[in-house]
Amino acid sequence: MATKPVVLLVGVTGMLGYEIAHAILDKGAMELRALVRAEGANDESKKKKLDALKDKGATFVEGDIMNLASLPAAVAGVEAVISAIGNDPNSYIAGQTNLLEAAEQAGVKRFVPSDFTGDYHKLDYGDNFNTDMRKRFFEVLRQSSVPYVSINNGGFMEVMLTPFIATFNLEAGTFSYWGEGDELCDFTSYPDVAKYTAEVVADESLANVTLEFAAEVTTFKQMLAAYEEVTGRELTQQRLGSVADLKASIENAKATAQSPFEYLGRQYLWIMQSGKAKLEHIANERYSQIKPVSFREFFSRLSNT
Ligand SMILES: NC(=O)c1ccc[n+]([C@@H]2O[C@H](COP(=O)([O-])OP(=O)(O)OC[C@H]3O[C@@H](n4cnc5c(N)ncnc54)[C@H](OP(=O)(O)O)[C@@H]3O)[C@@H](O)[C@H]2O)c1
Repeated sequence: MATKPVVLLVGVTGMLGYEIAHAILDKGAMELRALVRAEGANDESKKKKLDALKDKGATFVEGDIMNLASLPAAVAGVEAVISAIGNDPNSYIAGQTNLLEAAEQAGVKRFVPSDFTGDYHKLDYGDNFNTDMRKRFFEVLRQSSVPYVSINNGGFMEVMLTPFIATFNLEAGTFSYWGEGDELCDFTSYPDVAKYTAEVVADESLANVTLEFAAEVTTFKQMLAAYEEVTGRELTQQRLGSVADLKASIENAKATAQSPFEYLGRQYLWIMQSGKAKLEHIANERYSQIKPVSFREFFSRLSNT
């Protein structure tokens, strides 16, 4: 029996990485090797995730992308690397640069960086703290001899329900938005981004390319309408101001903030509602067997759990 190519995934205990791990194992085209930090394995909920992946055939290598010496063993014999690390500013650029360096030495053929956002290439430095890091790391990536495959998927549907984005407040029964609420934005759920990632990483034809996927291109008001239709619950709409007011509120916050996390949620809203990071080359049809869930289906699944 021919052996399958190996993919190294970093971030399997995370929100997205765990979904990507399952999608790769479900697809079955590649062997999954996961780089895990020792401390993660001591956390009960993370341990549960690792056990579930082990049961499905994943193997693990202990390491940390901040520790270059731990990486050669992880990348040895690997065809492709996926980084699904979070946005820790201490490791986002430095750690992925280590991982890329190790991948280069091991002759890795595809490197998927932890992008998973809107089209950040159209953004300027200063527009969004997290996409600034992506822009900086992309400069490192394109100098490397390892071919990159970047995935941009707009906003995650799940994140729209979080206090971080502060749009839905289900406890208070409110829906807050900036702008007119009819600006088109791109959204995809975690499991669908994971399915696209599993396809991309197994696709030998890809090199030095950015692929865009979006389950739904919709407006904030249509998102609310989908929620209300599915749940039968009406939320009180709160218009917070124009898109220009949103930008002004971010700039004001920047002047006094102790940390970018005080205004980062608003920066995400701004890159969505200003249209500046809008996806313009959505390529869902490349993997037309994937049927990504719409907001209507997403809310419907939530209300049935
Ligand atoms: N477009 C959107 O709306 C949106 C929303 C959310 C996230 N995202 C993106 O999705 C990607 C993944 O985010 P997430 O929320 O899934 O992240 P997360 O839940 O914070 O998970 C981060 C993962 O990276 C691992 N990790 C962190 N530092 C590491 C290191 N030094 N060495 C090895 N592993 C390390 C963590 O392992 P441990 O268990 O050891 O900590 C964990 O498994 C990010 O690019 C994020 O920006 C996009």
